[in-house]
Amino acid sequence: MDQKQMTDLIQQMTLEEKIAQLLQLTANLHEGTDDQSQITGPMEEMGITEEMVRASGSVLGLSGASSVIALQQEYMKKSRLGIPLLFMADVVHGFKTIFPIPLAIGCSWDLRLAEKSAEIAARESSVSGIHVTFAPMVDLVRDPRWGRVMETTGEDPYLNSLFARAFVRGYQGSNLQEDKERLAACVKHFAAYGAAEGGRDYNTVDMSERQLREYYLPAYKAALDEGCEMIMASFNTVDGIPASGNEKLMRGILRDEWGFDGVLISDWASIREMIAHGAAEDDCDAAYRAIRAGVDIEMMTPCYVQHLPQLIKSGRVSEAWIDEAVLRILQLKNKLGLFENPLRGADPEAESEVLFSAEHRQAAYDLAVKSSILLKNNDVLPLKPESNVALIGPFAGQEDILGWWSCVGVKEDAVQLGAALQERLNHKLTIAEGCGIDTMTPQQLAQAMDTARSADVIVLALGESAAMSGEGGSRTDIKLPKAQLELVKELKKLGKPMAAVLFNGRPLDLHGVLGEADAVLEAWFPGSEGGAAIADLLVGKANPSGRLTMSFPQTVGQVPVYYNGFNTGRPMDPSKTGERYVSKYIDSPNEPLLPFGFGLSYSTFEYGQLSISSHEMSAEKPLEVSISVTNTSARAGIETVQLYIRDVCGEVVRPLRELKGFEQIELEPGESKTVKFTITEELLRYHHSDLSFTSDPGSFHIFVGPNSRDTLQASFTLI
Ligand code: BGC
Repeated sequence: MDQKQMTDLIQQMTLEEKIAQLLQLTANLHEGTDDQSQITGPMEEMGITEEMVRASGSVLGLSGASSVIALQQEYMKKSRLGIPLLFMADVVHGFKTIFPIPLAIGCSWDLRLAEKSAEIAARESSVSGIHVTFAPMVDLVRDPRWGRVMETTGEDPYLNSLFARAFVRGYQGSNLQEDKERLAACVKHFAAYGAAEGGRDYNTVDMSERQLREYYLPAYKAALDEGCEMIMASFNTVDGIPASGNEKLMRGILRDEWGFDGVLISDWASIREMIAHGAAEDDCDAAYRAIRAGVDIEMMTPCYVQHLPQLIKSGRVSEAWIDEAVLRILQLKNKLGLFENPLRGADPEAESEVLFSAEHRQAAYDLAVKSSILLKNNDVLPLKPESNVALIGPFAGQEDILGWWSCVGVKEDAVQLGAALQERLNHKLTIAEGCGIDTMTPQQLAQAMDTARSADVIVLALGESAAMSGEGGSRTDIKLPKAQLELVKELKKLGKPMAAVLFNGRPLDLHGVLGEADAVLEAWFPGSEGGAAIADLLVGKANPSGRLTMSFPQTVGQVPVYYNGFNTGRPMDPSKTGERYVSKYIDSPNEPLLPFGFGLSYSTFEYGQLSISSHEMSAEKPLEVSISVTNTSARAGIETVQLYIRDVCGEVVRPLRELKGFEQIELEPGESKTVKFTITEELLRYHHSDLSFTSDPGSFHIFVGPNSRDTLQASFTLI
């Protein structure tokens, strides 16, 4: 359909038909579908009628080719103008083949594999009938108490932006109309949902516009620049106004300034929730505020359907706003080729071949290997082939290792660590559960102690249950649950070498495990092939290379603690611990326990001298920075060489360091490679007090190294 046909179509639509396009409801509300998973309350209570369900223009959360085909065909039979339904779902880290959680994917620093994971998720979900995924989630995060940190790639705006682009490329490909194995992507949650006060989900977000633009907006913008078709409003307030009714954010920044003309959807019930926020009088007022802000689709509440007709009649809302929203929705349907082929990629036969295929599982394995991070290793890992190993802990058994938002992934389909290690170690392995996530019986402990006594080395499999992170999964205590800490304490008494593998959805306070264990491997929720990947890392068939993209705090009392903070007027000098009137805690270091960018390997790498092409640069004359890195060990390994910059004196204060580039290199034993970075004036720009995005002449420091802390330094002047 061309633009003209599209506008003609809108002209033929009644006002009710148009407004129905703006409503999205879950599949279980549709007659004949048996997906009950998303019911939130009786329809009557939500004010939803069967008539609304029948007419609504898109469906949330239905998948399975046959179900989608049946619903679409039924709908098309009744559609007066032949406008097909759009099927959307949260395909966040895989559809049936589940990849590691996004935070883990971030820690791979591997954009190519991230893109591939999205491409595979798109292929699996499109044969199952889905058209749009509510991903990527690119909220910048600094607070590990927030359960949704597992959905993002971390605390850095530059890295998050690169991942945002990679995910969008993977989901959407380059031609949605032709390529039926791709999905439209919906970047979320606009904006700054990750900055919820206290890490409590849905809580207030309040920050300066400069802060918003400098740190929080870039990743959404990057996704849109990559062609992302949709965006989702966040639940939170932004400068006192809920995002779903925030005109300045939506019409101002998103539409007028960035020129985004794709579909903007509310989050689940977030239009009606403006009433609870204290930002709308009632459903009618909420509808008015949301449409005025430019929200096209209302998810899961009927404020638009119930109130827009009257709002238009009274002249408060212009019908032109509705037409604009409908046009954007129809354009998306058209882009997906739905007018010609409403069933699009849905294919029950292909489904059985494509879903969870060997090729897809291999990609999930590769990513799980690359996203695990070795946090500590005192010569315990890799496990020595002759050792008898005791695997102990709740994740030795059947705990869910897929993590929150695992779509139609089945936890029983995932390769568990116990089974995978058994395959590799045979009779050299014994397994005991030791405790549950947060319970321990005397028998469990006794059995764990017996198992450990007869082994040479203990491998602990510990962590949070999947439900302890994800939406609504905020915690104030981010240590491992007490029963597991107790288990570690008891096992430690045996004095045997001990390695801990951690399965979790957030940076944890590692007290009680990092000091006690001789080695710690952060596995996150590693997905369908997680156990196989972790087992190979443990036995040394694979070599860890992941790097943290979110700092691990010393204690929750330090939160938020992140690498790219500012100095103060009274910075602390760590060599003078007795000073009082400096910016510090009297009971904790300032630095996080494990910094951004950190991660070990079974290989060792040595950095040569940092060389810089000149000590002066200008917009016309960029700088070259280079460094040679050598693998000084007997094992091939991957090193992620990171470049940070500090603007020493800005018009507004600048972070102590900011990631500006990185390169992942593979080095054979003894091999050296030279890594080069180009520093352009563009890299040095930032948002000034008047919000202009420019650079300041003056001194800059460059830091290059294996993480944000242990770096070599050089300096230059921008003229
Ligand atoms: C979440 C979104 C999600 C939506 C639809 C909401 O509760 O915040 O991230 O896309 O539900 O499932």
